[in-house]
Amino acid sequence: MEDHNQDLELRRSQGSHSHSHDHAHSRSHSHGHEHGPNYDHRNGHEEDDVHEETLHFHKIIKAFSQYKASAIMLPTYLKRMEKIDEAIEANYEIIKIICEDQQIFVNDDRPMATLDINDRAKNAAALRVREQDMEKVQGTIKQFVRDWSEGGKPEREAIYHPMIQELKDRFASVPVEQRGGIHVLVPGSGLGRLAFDIAHEGFSSQGNEFSYYMLLASNFILNKTTQTNQFKIYPFIHSFSNIVQPNDVLTEAKIPDVNPSEIPRGTDFSMVAGDFLEVYGQEAENFDAVVTCFFIDTAKNIVDYLETIYKILKKGGVWINAGPLLWHFENTANEISIELSLEEVLELAKTIGFRIEVQGTSKSTYMANPHGMLKYVYECATWTAVKI
Ligand SMILES: C[S@@+](CC[C@H](N)C(=O)[O-])C[C@H]1O[C@@H](n2cnc3c(N)ncnc32)[C@H](O)[C@@H]1O
Repeated sequence: MEDHNQDLELRRSQGSHSHSHDHAHSRSHSHGHEHGPNYDHRNGHEEDDVHEETLHFHKIIKAFSQYKASAIMLPTYLKRMEKIDEAIEANYEIIKIICEDQQIFVNDDRPMATLDINDRAKNAAALRVREQDMEKVQGTIKQFVRDWSEGGKPEREAIYHPMIQELKDRFASVPVEQRGGIHVLVPGSGLGRLAFDIAHEGFSSQGNEFSYYMLLASNFILNKTTQTNQFKIYPFIHSFSNIVQPNDVLTEAKIPDVNPSEIPRGTDFSMVAGDFLEVYGQEAENFDAVVTCFFIDTAKNIVDYLETIYKILKKGGVWINAGPLLWHFENTANEISIELSLEEVLELAKTIGFRIEVQGTSKSTYMANPHGMLKYVYECATWTAVKI
């Protein structure tokens, strides 16, 4: 393909004889791109022509030598690249802190072993970081915006706030000071903001998450930040597509927008690491409410998820849900995936033993770049179901 294009370019030059100095002046050759090192151009040229040719030649040498600088033609682009380098450094400073606490997941029955050099060498293939792993690192940085920055407010107001309001309404008869007696589980809690906000309202709140990306990052935000706007991150530097202003990619986010240590005294707030089905599959009737946000479509088998939610709720307990049905395992090779429609999910919930009491929709983006020209808007399904 490339050869073909070069060919076209040469023919155009020959045809025009435009002296546009894209090619060397030549009589004996139809074009000047393949001269040997000793080719003598002077034969038959007038002196002016020789001078012109010399200048032309030197300009081309100069053009080659300026390749690197001119590859980035626009000055704003060049400047932006310098700032991107600085932004990557700033993000990396936070990543270093995130990775400091590698022993937080140690527990008595399954300690997190360390890897020595030999182990690493033996397991090189398993340890190879692939493109999709790096995308997850970048996604984690963006998730900070959704959960813990001022910029994430629109998404939180669209989805988290109505869910929290519904929870408060459902337990309106319980005085605020006694909300600690109401146990709420937030499976698939990501970076923990929804679970934190629920605790902030005085409820006993437990987040559950199985991704180490999320767990390490939520540990950083919940346990290592001590004041608002303590850190600056640059979440949008990883894509230059659909950007309006040159500096939009450099939009910074200050985190956290609230102090995570500020929850009411005596409120129980915890994060539990592990697969939702594994951690809670054997529990029964421990929670007064389960709040699922952009979570149920992570199921391979939605029946298992709904049965577990049902089982862990006390009788009369509420399941508050909001999110799309973007089935995570659809089209994943060698994985079971049951992809139900919304109507089928609700039918299944009724069959399992829920009564759907409130149902609606709510529009929201998910980790969108506020300055971007492309935003996916989900028409999220929302409902409150009661265990009967
Ligand atoms: C789409 S994200 C939503 C995160 C958060 N609820 C929010 O609204 O931003 C789904 C989350 O569920 C987690 N997750 C998926 N399957 C899970 C499982 N089986 N057990 C626990 N967490 C799970 C993922 O790691 C991810 O953080």
